[in-house]
Amino acid sequence: MKNYKIAVVPGDGIGPEVMDEAVKVLKRVAEIDGGMSFSFTTYPWGCQYYLENHEMMPADGLDILKQYDAILLGAVGYPGVPDHVSLRDLLLRIRHDFDQYINLRPIKLLRGAPCPLEGMGPEEINMTFIRENSEGEYSGSGAWLYKDKPEEVVIQNSVFSRKGTERVIRYAYELAHKTHQTLTNVSKGNALNYSMVFWDQIFDEVGKEYPDVKTYKLMVDAASMFMVKDPKRFQVVVASNLFGDILTDLGAAIAGGMGLAAGANLNPDRTFPSMFEPIHGSAPDIAGQGISNPLASVWAVSQLLDFLGYEDWGKKVIDAIEKMLVEKIALTPDLGGKASTSECGTALAAILN
Ligand code: NAD
Ligand code: IPM
Ligand code: MN
Repeated sequence: MKNYKIAVVPGDGIGPEVMDEAVKVLKRVAEIDGGMSFSFTTYPWGCQYYLENHEMMPADGLDILKQYDAILLGAVGYPGVPDHVSLRDLLLRIRHDFDQYINLRPIKLLRGAPCPLEGMGPEEINMTFIRENSEGEYSGSGAWLYKDKPEEVVIQNSVFSRKGTERVIRYAYELAHKTHQTLTNVSKGNALNYSMVFWDQIFDEVGKEYPDVKTYKLMVDAASMFMVKDPKRFQVVVASNLFGDILTDLGAAIAGGMGLAAGANLNPDRTFPSMFEPIHGSAPDIAGQGISNPLASVWAVSQLLDFLGYEDWGKKVIDAIEKMLVEKIALTPDLGGKASTSECGTALAAILN
């Protein structure tokens, strides 16, 4: 029997609500499979913890997390703690310090999921975003000079290293190559004359190793337009940290909404644990009402199962989500249903077999 140690960081707002359901589903998978088990340890880090302890997690938080096989994270950020403090000191810290340099975000419209684009169905919307997840626009480098003075200046640096750029672009090529899909490079070399010119150059360089991969190049502005007008043209997509962040919320909107969008923060080298999460935030507007959609977190569980080598289970979990959408079983209000968060999770667990 293989046992996996999972650290759960539910975080803030709806984070704990949706994480309960993610854990429920993972327990159910282990119960049916019989050949694996999961032991969960929950850490109460987040904004409430910050208000009590003046830090988002303890000083040895990363040493604690390092011992786990994987991390499940709910959502971080809540009114009362500035977002740049809460996110930088917890979520972004884990992504960066654990070298989770790949953010893998499927934008896949399941059957039965609502799509605001006229005439578009599952055939048209099926892409995999590979977002750079450790540097770029999120490097955190900069300065705030002459604060509160008339000559005040702020500088926010984007940092694109050769190593960091090559590895994410190579990962995307490798995925496109293995899955026989096209690869679209999203950049903005016309305006960002250092970072994105460099990014495009690396895209071409690495591409020489993959002559079989059909590639396309789009500026981020045109890419966002085509995601709405002609999403079918995208299969594997590679983008920088910020562009990938923005385009995947747009992707979520065309693929069923924030309640169905998940992301895996991967350390492909497996030198640190990887982290799985819904891509939505803590949703303060609906927190505490028990109506948040847990299916994005359940989708993250599917990604976790894939990463641990249980792709069959990963697929079964997605199939179960699709069955709920098609047959309108226990859906939460964002998907037009009346179910509570926990009813939705319980129904999903019951579908698995
Ligand atoms: P949000 O994703 O929390 O909410 C945007 C909208 O989507 C809201 O109307 C919300 O009700 C809805 N929504 C989101 N998830 C839902 C779900 N599972 N079910 C039903 N509806 C859902 O984004 P925001 O309002 O910009 O951010 C709120 C807080 O979360 C901020 O502090 C922000 O910094 C943080 N945030 C954290 C993460 C993360 O931890 N990964 C991601 C995004 C935002
Ligand atoms: C996401 C979120 C985070 C990001 C925020 C909360 C820092 O929006 O995971 O998409 O920008 O990466
Ligand atoms: Mn985002």
